[in-house]
Amino acid sequence: MTILAPSVLGADFTKLGEQVEAIDRAGAQYIHLDVMDGEFVPSISFGMPVIKALRTLTNRVFDVHMMVMNPDRYIDAMKDAGADILCVHQEACLHLDRTLHRIHEAGMQAAVALNPATPVEALSCILQEADMVLIMSVNPGFGGQKFIPYALDKIRAVRKMIADRGLSTRVEVDGGVNLGNVGDVIRAGADTIVAGSAVFRGDPADNVTAFLEKFREAQG
Ligand code: DX5
Ligand code: ZN
Repeated sequence: MTILAPSVLGADFTKLGEQVEAIDRAGAQYIHLDVMDGEFVPSISFGMPVIKALRTLTNRVFDVHMMVMNPDRYIDAMKDAGADILCVHQEACLHLDRTLHRIHEAGMQAAVALNPATPVEALSCILQEADMVLIMSVNPGFGGQKFIPYALDKIRAVRKMIADRGLSTRVEVDGGVNLGNVGDVIRAGADTIVAGSAVFRGDPADNVTAFLEKFREAQG
């Protein structure tokens, strides 16, 4: 099943709670939460207090994308704040194997994100330790950027690695996904779709409905 993970970075922060409740009601299965530290990426977004507050509004899966150097520092705090999936960047972890084990020990699913320039082969040794791989289709740090086309080749390549090894790892795609290109993204092998501006520009609930309809079409 294809999962929609709206990125609340695209939300109107003056109506954050309302909009999260609206996308939950409309059927978005995950809530994608982008945490930025001003070091791994240029910008700073939000952290544990905001995630904890949103946790009181919805039971949907919290998919926390850590655009943070050395994210090990926050594993327990993110669990306490209500994260279900903790996604760390391969480029931000010196000891990725240990980080993934710590995330599992804390009781969360572990995901690994790759920047556009990082080849999928960087996951070759660690793939079986991850519950989900996140292929970035923009350079992380900001919402509203344009989809990088070669990300489709990376989705196909990682999907093949997963199939060849008989794994059931999810493949998530993040950055510049919209109603126009999501069909290609799904056909390339993605099963978890992050969308920020394409969900929150206009009416978030209507946009969620439109994405879920596209998912049904793309799956035939
Ligand atoms: C980018 C973030 C994304 C972003 C997606 O650094 O990781 O999750 O919010 O936003 P759109 O869909 O607008 O590219
Ligand atoms: Zn993200």
